Amino acid sequence: MNIQQDVSLKHLNTFGIDVHAKYFTVFDTAVDLPALFESDTMEILQARDKIIVLGGGSNMLFTKNVDGLVLKNEITGIEKIGEDAAHVYIKAGAGENWHLFVLYCLENNYAGVENLALIPGSIGASPMQNIGAYGVEIKDVFHSLEAFDLKEKCFVSFNKMDCAFGYRESIFKKRYKNVFIITSVTFKLNKTPVFNVSYGAVTQELTDMNVADLSIQAIAQAVMNIRSSKLPDPKLIGNAGSFFKNPEIDLRSFEKLQVNFPGIAGYKLDDGKIKLAAGWLIEQCGWKGYRKGDAGCFAKQSLVLVNYGNANGMEIYDLSSEIIQTVFDTFGVQLEREVNIL
Ligand code: FAD
Ligand code: EPU
Repeated sequence: MNIQQDVSLKHLNTFGIDVHAKYFTVFDTAVDLPALFESDTMEILQARDKIIVLGGGSNMLFTKNVDGLVLKNEITGIEKIGEDAAHVYIKAGAGENWHLFVLYCLENNYAGVENLALIPGSIGASPMQNIGAYGVEIKDVFHSLEAFDLKEKCFVSFNKMDCAFGYRESIFKKRYKNVFIITSVTFKLNKTPVFNVSYGAVTQELTDMNVADLSIQAIAQAVMNIRSSKLPDPKLIGNAGSFFKNPEIDLRSFEKLQVNFPGIAGYKLDDGKIKLAAGWLIEQCGWKGYRKGDAGCFAKQSLVLVNYGNANGMEIYDLSSEIIQTVFDTFGVQLEREVNIL
């Protein structure tokens, strides 16, 4: 494998942050990984936690140069590996683009990922934070994944239970951070669709589209229309989607907040907790459309922080800290960053 030195990552992260990696390489097959990790140098980098796997760079904020190795995953390939009466099992290489995979499923009438259309990034990163949108998360269609263990230097399989999926969480995001390189993911998709139109915005868009017969293609189109209308296109304005998670609080705390803030947006979860709309909290604090230098809070969706051109990672990070502080001071609610900070 060709290891390059001092490589700019500006075009490899959707925030467009201009940092450099001390070492950089691309891999497009899993079988190359064991040999790559045989050397003493790799052993040292791994021990010092200085190896970073990069997919599409759409959920990362680089705040400094990477004093280690960036491994860009470009493993391709999508294949049907099995089926039963109700499902097909599709295995996709970790470097495949998520949205192109969704389009492949739509073309073949494989149901389950239509609500997740237009999410940027790679297949390999999709289990990392259990990507989700419009009432569906990948845990709903996940079957298993294969990964290379950087410590033990061997390949392992994870089933759904092993991954400990939660809201924008998995075992890979914290406990096993930088321990595994995910090389492929297998999805269990439905032959007969079970439509999820639980989101009001999706139902409304389908009505506006005059959809008479519901289909996975129509749902995907509705989701794409909604997303395009309020999320910034990273090719035009640097961003990493929602910068913060929507916070979960108990019912009593929610009712207390409702007294002072009758318009507060929140909905009840299965465990009785209330998920608050962080975008609403941030907007109420006056941040929507705010800009300082090239760092800003997007005018159409305040949960999204943006880079208008030449902001550096620390400017975006500092803005996120200010937002966290004012939301806490106003509502007593602690926001947590969703984006991976490096
Ligand atoms: P990267 O940013 O490259 O990496 C993210 C993390 O995963 C890093 O910690 C990285 O080290 C790790 N990683 C990447 N690949 C691997 C691998 N093969 N093995 C092990 N670790 C790996 N997310 C949602 O959930 N829902 C949304 O609706 C959504 N909307 C978005 C909209 C926009 C405009 C943008 C820019 C982002 C949005 N996101 C959303 C966030 C992002 O698209 C997802 O988190 C996506 O899965 C990131 O994929 P990536 O390949 O770009 O990951
Ligand atoms: N809202 C405001 N002001 C804003 C933004 C939002 O008041 O500036 C309120 C509105 O009441 C709105 C509610 O927040 O009805 C929810 O907004 P939206 O439907 O845009 O969704 P979100 O909660 O902001 C979440 C995910 C998105 C995902 C959408 C659709 C998180 C952190 N974000 O956003 O995921 O696409 O729902 O399911 O859960 C991502 O993770 O990067 C991401 C974009």
